[in-house]
Amino acid sequence: MKRLLSAALLAAAMSSAAYADTIKVGIVGPFSGPFALQGKNFKAGIDAYVAINGHKVGNHEVEIIYRDVPQADPAQSKALAQELIVKEGVQYLGGFYFTPDAMAATPLLQQANVPMVVMNAAASAIVTKSPYVVRTSFTIWQTVSPMAQVAFDDGAKKVVTVVADYAPGHDAEAAFKAGFEKAGGAVVEQLRMPMSTADFSPIMQRIKDSGADGLFVFLPSGPPTLGFVKAYNENGLKAAGIKFFAPGDLTQESDLPALGESALGLQTTFHYAVSHDSPENKAFVTAASKAIGNQAELSFPAVGAYDGMHVIYKMIEATGGKQDAEKAVGAVKGLSWTSPRGPVSIDPESRHIVENIYLREVTKAADGTYYNKEIRTFEKQGDPGLAAKK
Ligand code: PHB
Repeated sequence: MKRLLSAALLAAAMSSAAYADTIKVGIVGPFSGPFALQGKNFKAGIDAYVAINGHKVGNHEVEIIYRDVPQADPAQSKALAQELIVKEGVQYLGGFYFTPDAMAATPLLQQANVPMVVMNAAASAIVTKSPYVVRTSFTIWQTVSPMAQVAFDDGAKKVVTVVADYAPGHDAEAAFKAGFEKAGGAVVEQLRMPMSTADFSPIMQRIKDSGADGLFVFLPSGPPTLGFVKAYNENGLKAAGIKFFAPGDLTQESDLPALGESALGLQTTFHYAVSHDSPENKAFVTAASKAIGNQAELSFPAVGAYDGMHVIYKMIEATGGKQDAEKAVGAVKGLSWTSPRGPVSIDPESRHIVENIYLREVTKAADGTYYNKEIRTFEKQGDPGLAAKK
């Protein structure tokens, strides 16, 4: 079976080795189920990019093909990536909301001669799994490391960490502990929860019992983050003065209408805020809002996808439409541009995005809506997780 699949991959790679008029891009993400809004943001970012830059690169028509993996499911992700390569003949893979889904597709890339542009998945290790992976989102180490210092400066001395029990959660736990202890604080307890956790009351009780003066949390954005922030309020932790530290996954803009006052004042660190004040972001928000149909649903996966398309367009340009993964990836090493999030570049060594990380605070606007207001910038952050060597 394995040999058969390999032969099919090779044949697919060879048959499309010639110049193609239509370049197919396969996008894997959650387009149904509890995380569907995150997938919808991938599509909005891609649609916005195409609306602004056109659907052609040179003479080549770019066609996007979507495949749905509703929850983290590495076997399904790999099977769909394989199907996109072999049956659909895609020259590029992109998307990948969850780390396990991205990881599972990496063994296909080299033999299939296909680059993969990770538009969200954020465990540091993904880029090390294949030389054909490029990432345009962020890593957990990148967003969490500045938060560890912010937490200490804010006066927290004893913190409990709470994370989803999978690779990005483990990265978050390690990144926060490393930064917070270096600053002089202590992590007094490390709690891991199954990804499917929906009732956060027991964990809130444990945090209260620990005597910590703050909590640090990472969960994948979507229903878990909404549930956690609500529970932090409803179980009296906010009222008790237990400080809240987290990356921006916990206060994504699309959750803010439902969170309302319970999110007000929460500070998080992240690579993108919908409110970012720049001409590039204004153009992006206008196009992506039109694509998604409701600006209140816009969130960070849209910007990862938008910049991911920029990288794919540059790859198509550099290869003249020919299927040559090595040349395509080589062409974007060191690429720099102004993203809606601010200035970015692709680190030539790691193939991961270098970007500003912003400290933001959930703020109420004059019209009564809530937004993440940028209050401080940590410039040109690489990925400390790759150096941390796990
Ligand atoms: C991931 O699985 O890598 C992931 C998912 C959602 C996030 C961040 C990271 O908000």
